[in-house]
Parts: sequence; structure tokens; C-alpha cells
Amino acid sequence: MSDKSKNETEYSRREFLMDIGKAGGIAAMYGTMGALGMFAPPAGAAPVNFVPLTGLPKSKKGNRVIVIGAGIAGLTSAYELMKAGYSVTLLEGLDRPGGRNWTVRGGDSATETDGVTQVCKFDRNQYMNCGPARLPQHHITIEYCRELGVELEVFTNQNADAYYYNEGVGPLSGVPVRHRTAKADIYGYMSELLSKATNQGALDDTLTAADKALLTQFLTNFGNLQSGKYNGSSRRGYKVSPGAGSQSGEIDLPAYAMSELLQSRFGLNFSFEFGWDQAMLMFQPVGGMDAIPKALERAIRPKTKLVYSAKVTGIYNTTEGVQVVYEDKSNTPKQLEADFCICTIPPQVLKKIPSNLSPNVIDALGVAIPQSTGKIGLQYKRRFWEEDDKIMGGITNTNTNVSTIWYPSYGYLGKKGVVVGYYNFGANANFYSGLSPAERQEQALIQGEKIHGPSYRSELENSFSVSWIKTPFSEGGWVGWPTSGGQRVPAYDLLNKPDGNIYFAGDHLSYYIAWQAGAFDSARKVVMEIHQRVAA
Ligand code: ALA
Repeated sequence: MSDKSKNETEYSRREFLMDIGKAGGIAAMYGTMGALGMFAPPAGAAPVNFVPLTGLPKSKKGNRVIVIGAGIAGLTSAYELMKAGYSVTLLEGLDRPGGRNWTVRGGDSATETDGVTQVCKFDRNQYMNCGPARLPQHHITIEYCRELGVELEVFTNQNADAYYYNEGVGPLSGVPVRHRTAKADIYGYMSELLSKATNQGALDDTLTAADKALLTQFLTNFGNLQSGKYNGSSRRGYKVSPGAGSQSGEIDLPAYAMSELLQSRFGLNFSFEFGWDQAMLMFQPVGGMDAIPKALERAIRPKTKLVYSAKVTGIYNTTEGVQVVYEDKSNTPKQLEADFCICTIPPQVLKKIPSNLSPNVIDALGVAIPQSTGKIGLQYKRRFWEEDDKIMGGITNTNTNVSTIWYPSYGYLGKKGVVVGYYNFGANANFYSGLSPAERQEQALIQGEKIHGPSYRSELENSFSVSWIKTPFSEGGWVGWPTSGGQRVPAYDLLNKPDGNIYFAGDHLSYYIAWQAGAFDSARKVVMEIHQRVAA
């Protein structure tokens, strides 16, 4: 996410608190801030935005809430409501918790909306996180992992030895180039250019003589310049590694020409690792991302009525509260009544479910734009990326239709491993979505072989792929909201308010779209709103 998104996040929190301030006075606002862990940090301090929601006074007995969807937003809603003493029923269409937080392992099967079923054949201890797969260290997700005892390990989001590989982009087309090599050369040339401009007087209006000297010192260090010039450096890597005795090593020279690097567009990938949400260190739960929903499920199970394979067929405001109609596992219609409902169904799915939601709410649901994304897990019998390419985790970027290849951040030096052969979006995701599982595998192999050679095909054992746009109950990886004048459209604000006794929650109602943090935060906001209403 951009810095702008960060500001928007802070803005929306401020707005939310201002609303509470208006409704319940300053004391209510500060009480809410405390419970949500949102006391403003001192200026310049890291944003620490979490205190467990344990301070809620208990709800009056008999307050019943139906939560629809056992993804992160639904599970968190149920968890926080349970802690506050509500009586919760949680309905989930699938037969597992997590929603898009889905870790696939050997023996699991899934059927896409076109009826095609895949059975995963991964070995024991091998897995793919089909949905969320990386956690920034500042997200609230980490705090829930702490509270729930979910063990974390580092997820390698950047690796100097992973590749860039682009096609149709000048002399470096079709050449896999290590991240470190591309960066050494591009940082070097950029430093040389800026150093030249500085010393030829181009910045005299901007910099003092002392600052020019400091900038030159910085550029010499940053670009590894010799007498103001970039001539390549050991940062690119070695043709012959340094070793014992007289083996001083042979640096991989010469550097690529600046023009060929510019044409390659490799540099357009560099800023990814500066991102608020993508900068290392990042983390993953040990053994699979679904450790998070499983821990939430364990926590709520004793006090929550949890119904899996419940297909919701109607959501209604009533004079007393809410009514939810669903079909159970054996397609038997069931009906539930409660005081409130928290509905976490994605907008593109919810808009098709019969309800008496207000027409403007139904219209607002249609404004969200579902985003296509997909992955394929390729199980290999040998970790050739580690053994041959010396790549221990991380991501290769390419402008071919696979977009990214992810090397596993678990089980290093093990025998087998699951490589994510594509994680792509938009048109590329739609392309793979339209293929059969076997065709997806073949396409992924064709692209991966160009980077890793024949092992990419010969070491393969099996694969499992997911198309989120074709995944029942999700029908998209996440949604996008149109904006107007830099602000999200009114539909977004409308769905952030209840319709009668029905509240909406999910990452789509946050400024952390496509992150579990958005689902956690949205659930906490809605639980607090219900609780304030009940308390009033
Ligand atoms: N949060 C998602 C990712 O990191 C979009 O890829």
C-alpha cells in the first residue's frame, strides 16, 4: 500500500472516533479508544494500535448475534462477542474455518464454481497458502497470533538471489537476472548520474556546497562508485566465488549497459520492498496460514454454535431483530432469529442472496469490484531452486503470465517442497482461471522452465491450483472500490453503517483491503458498534 493509503487509514480511524465522540461525548470516545487499543502514540513513535478487546463490559444476558461467514472477519466477530458475553451462532458455507485464509494440503479437495474438482496430492508437511501468505510485522494480525498462541516464522518476501525475468524488453529479454545484479547496476548508474549532475553544477540552486559534498559521499557509497563512476562491483555477484588460499574470486563483470537495464524494466520492481505492507521482515504461521482461523475456532468453540456447510439463502431485518435462513449440509432449510447479524459475505456474493436489505445497500454492494487472482502450488521431489540456484525462499518477478514465482519459506534443505508457480492478478489470473487444472500446470511449467531450466519440469510431482474468482462463497480474491476525488465512493461509507440490525464486516470495509488485518479491524469496529448500541 502507498503512503497515501496509510494516511487514509489514519483518517478513517479518526473519523470513526469523531463519530463516537459526537454520539457519546469525549468519555465514550476515550473509552472506545482504550478498548480498541488506539491511544495515539507520541509523535514519531511507531503506530502501536492494539490492546486485546478484553475491557468490554459484559452484554446483558440474552443478546444474540448471528455471524455469517467463518473467515477472519466472522471468526474475530464471534471471538470478541464471546468475550463480551454475547450468545453467538456462526454460519459458514464451507466445511472449514478461514474463508480465503485457506491452506491446502494432501487429501484436501475443492470444487470451483464451474464444477471442476481438484484433489491435492501434496506429501505430508507440504502445503500452499492459497490466500493470504505473508504478514507485515506491524499488522494487528500479529497481535492476534500473540493472543492466540500462533507460532510464527519469517516469510522471505525479498531475496537478493531470486530473479527478474522479462520478455520483449530489449537486449535483456529472456535473460534471468538476479535481483542483486540488477540492483547493483541500476543503483550504480543512478548514483553516477546524480553525482555527475551535482558536480557539474546542475543542483547549485538547490544544494549548498557542504550538502553537495555530503550527497556525493552518499552516492559514492550507495552506488559503489569509483572516482564518480560505476564500473560494476562485487554486489552484482561472482563468476567464481571467493575461497581459501589464493582464490580471490572473479566478480561477474562487466555490468550491463544502462540502456539495456532501463529497457528491461527490472527497476520497476524495486519499490515493492519499500512498501508499508511489503517491507521485510514479514512473517507466516509455522505449518500454514490456517493456524490463525484454527486457533480462533478453538477459542470460540466452547461458547459458540458453529454451523459448517450452511448455505445462507435469506437475510432479513425483522421488527424484533434479524432472521437468517440457510440450508444445512443435507439441504434442509433452517431458520434462525437473533437481535443482530454481522454479515461478512463478500459484496459480490451477498448482493445475490435474497434479503430485505435497503435498496441503496443492495446498490452499494454492486459498486465493489471483485478482483481476480490465482495461485498454483507445484510440488517438487527435489529443491533444485535451493540446490542449483542457491535461492532460499523469496520471490522471482517476471512479466510473463505467471507474474511471480514464490519459493517456500519453510522446510529449507528438505527433500521436497511446494513452489508457488504463479501468483498473479487481473488479466493473467483470468487467463489461468479459464484453463483446466492440467492446462494451468502446463502453462506454469512453460514459463518457469525459461527461468530455471529443465528441472522445473522434470522434478515436478503434482500440483494444485486455485482461481479465486471461481471459488465458491468468495468469487474474488478481494474487491476494489472506485474512488472519486481520491476518496472512496459513498457506497463504501454506507456499508460501513448497519442496515437496521444487520452489520457488515470484512477487509472490503477497511483501508487494509486484501489483508487479514482489514478483516480483524473491521470485525473489532463492528463488535464495538453493536456493543455500544446494546449498552445504550
Ligand atoms: N495482501 C496480498 C499480498 O500481499 C494482496 O499479496
